[in-house]
Amino acid sequence: MKVFIINGVNLGQIGTREVNIYGHLSFDEYLRDLVNLYPDVNIDYLQEDDEGELAQAIAEAHDYDGIILNPGAFTHTSIAVADAIRTTPCPVIEVHLSNIFGREPYRHRNLVASHCIGSISGFGLDGYRMALEHLIKKCTPL
Ligand code: DQA
Repeated sequence: MKVFIINGVNLGQIGTREVNIYGHLSFDEYLRDLVNLYPDVNIDYLQEDDEGELAQAIAEAHDYDGIILNPGAFTHTSIAVADAIRTTPCPVIEVHLSNIFGREPYRHRNLVASHCIGSISGFGLDGYRMALEHLIKKCTPL
C-alpha cells in the first residue's frame, strides 16, 4: 500500500509556529512515529510552500492508494490546488491540525473540501493517523 502525505505552505514550521494552536512536535518527528507505527505502508512525504509546485505534485500523483493533504492557507484561497485534486486519480483526504471552522471567518471558506473524499479538522497531528486508518480500511478486503 502506498500513501502520499502532502503538506502545503508554512507546515514546515509546525513545532515552533503558533505552538498554542499547532503544538510543539515538528512534522518530521511525528512522521517518524507514524512510519514506525505502520511498517507495512509505504509513506511518501512532501512539504511545499509554493502554490504552483504544490498543485503540480498533487495533479501528477498517480500511483498512490491515497493522498493525505493539508494545504495550509491554500485551503482558503487556491483554485489551483482545488483543480489539482480534481485532476489526480488518487483519493484525497484533507487534514487540518486546527479546527478551521472554530477559527477566524476567513478560514471557514474552503475551496478544497468538496473535491476530497473527506475532511479531518481539529484533532492535531493525530488527524494524519486517522486519515491513514481510513485508507488502510479502504484497501483491505472485508
Ligand atoms: C491549517 C489551517 C490553515 O487555516 C492554516 O493556514 C494553516 C494550518 C491547519 O492544519 O490547521 O497553515 O491547515
